[in-house]
Amino acid sequence: MSSPLDARRVREDFPILDRTVRGGGRLVYLDSAATTQKPLAVLDAGRDYYLTSNAAVHRGAHQLAEEATEAFEGARARIAAFVGARADDLVFTRNATESLNLMAYAFSNATAKAARGSDLPKGAERFVLREGDEILVTEMEHHANLVPWQEVCAKTGAVLRWIPLTPEGRLDLSDLDRLINERTRVVSFTQQSNLLGTVNPVAPIVDAARAVGALIVLDSCQSVPHMPIDVASLGVDAVAWSGHKMLGPTGIGCLWATSETLASMPPFITGGSMIENVTMESSTYAEPPKRFEAGVPMVAQAVGLAAACDYLDALGMEKVAAHEAALTAHALTRLAEVPGVAVVGPTDLIDRGSAISFTVEGVHPHDVGQVLDSSGIAVRVGHHCAWPGCRAMGVPATTRMSPYIYNDAQDIDECIEALGRVRAVFGAR
Ligand code: ALA
Repeated sequence: MSSPLDARRVREDFPILDRTVRGGGRLVYLDSAATTQKPLAVLDAGRDYYLTSNAAVHRGAHQLAEEATEAFEGARARIAAFVGARADDLVFTRNATESLNLMAYAFSNATAKAARGSDLPKGAERFVLREGDEILVTEMEHHANLVPWQEVCAKTGAVLRWIPLTPEGRLDLSDLDRLINERTRVVSFTQQSNLLGTVNPVAPIVDAARAVGALIVLDSCQSVPHMPIDVASLGVDAVAWSGHKMLGPTGIGCLWATSETLASMPPFITGGSMIENVTMESSTYAEPPKRFEAGVPMVAQAVGLAAACDYLDALGMEKVAAHEAALTAHALTRLAEVPGVAVVGPTDLIDRGSAISFTVEGVHPHDVGQVLDSSGIAVRVGHHCAWPGCRAMGVPATTRMSPYIYNDAQDIDECIEALGRVRAVFGAR
């Protein structure tokens, strides 16, 4: 396998990958679509922050508070630059799920307030939904980009529609003209499927959504960590992703949106830090991004995520993508050699990422995962929080390997070798 990255060298930065599991076996971590491991640089950045500058940001008249604020806002600028954005257009959340909920709540909150004649930010009519308005998602969405929109529909009378899947696990765009129509107010879809690895065609969906004035939200949880992304050039209104899937700490997610979108959005979580003025009767709200960051924020996590961006940029996102493409090609070739194994999702490299789901004939995915685990191989099993996508593909669940920058061909080969034993262990023919 030829790759521009030296995974063995990369591995030296991830001490956890040196530990042994299940009675002394080498850990082969192939579950990075669920969460990535963290390099020392990220761990050190968070620890240094606590050792030297910890304080509550945006308040306090002392030096530590000033330094903590600088660290936090510096991290925001660094993370925004990683995706080609302005710092003020980047909102910190707990994770991508919260980022997507923030967008969904903008609609249900604006609709509820409009019904009562309450004050809304200028331009918020864009978020007010009426009975029969339509929200479009896809059948491959992670529950995080499906359930919040179902809730919005239940609260507002809007109707949920979705783009179906082809048998190969790609979006079936043949009916796009009907699915995106003058009633469509929101189009929210994943850039890369966590279940199938499919990389979706953003441009035709964006063009159709723009033509009817729908607001476009992209779930880039599985793409920001894996390919170079320039949010502004995607033509969408908002992009959500998580820190922990891109080497960063847990507890921090990102929502980028155009300045115009953020300025017109009503708040989601309310309380301290997000206000302009408060009386006993009512409050006015701060400008974005603060309007969406109530309470003391996740400063150490932001500092850690900025260090993760430095780490990935030092490797080079083009190289990260090329390394993953090489691993994916190797894995797809080797999986095809194992009798009874069927890949669920695209089997070629075109518009396909490194999350690779598969089934083993006659063996439940949980049992497959158990055999792999007994050989030290960490994969994810189940419906991957994409239950409708599994149903559309005709499987109740899958086993998924998802290699990243610290994996090499040997990791894939060890997984394949263990997979070769699975059917014999369970007496499947
Ligand atoms: N959403 C994560 C996954 O796909 C947890 O595994």
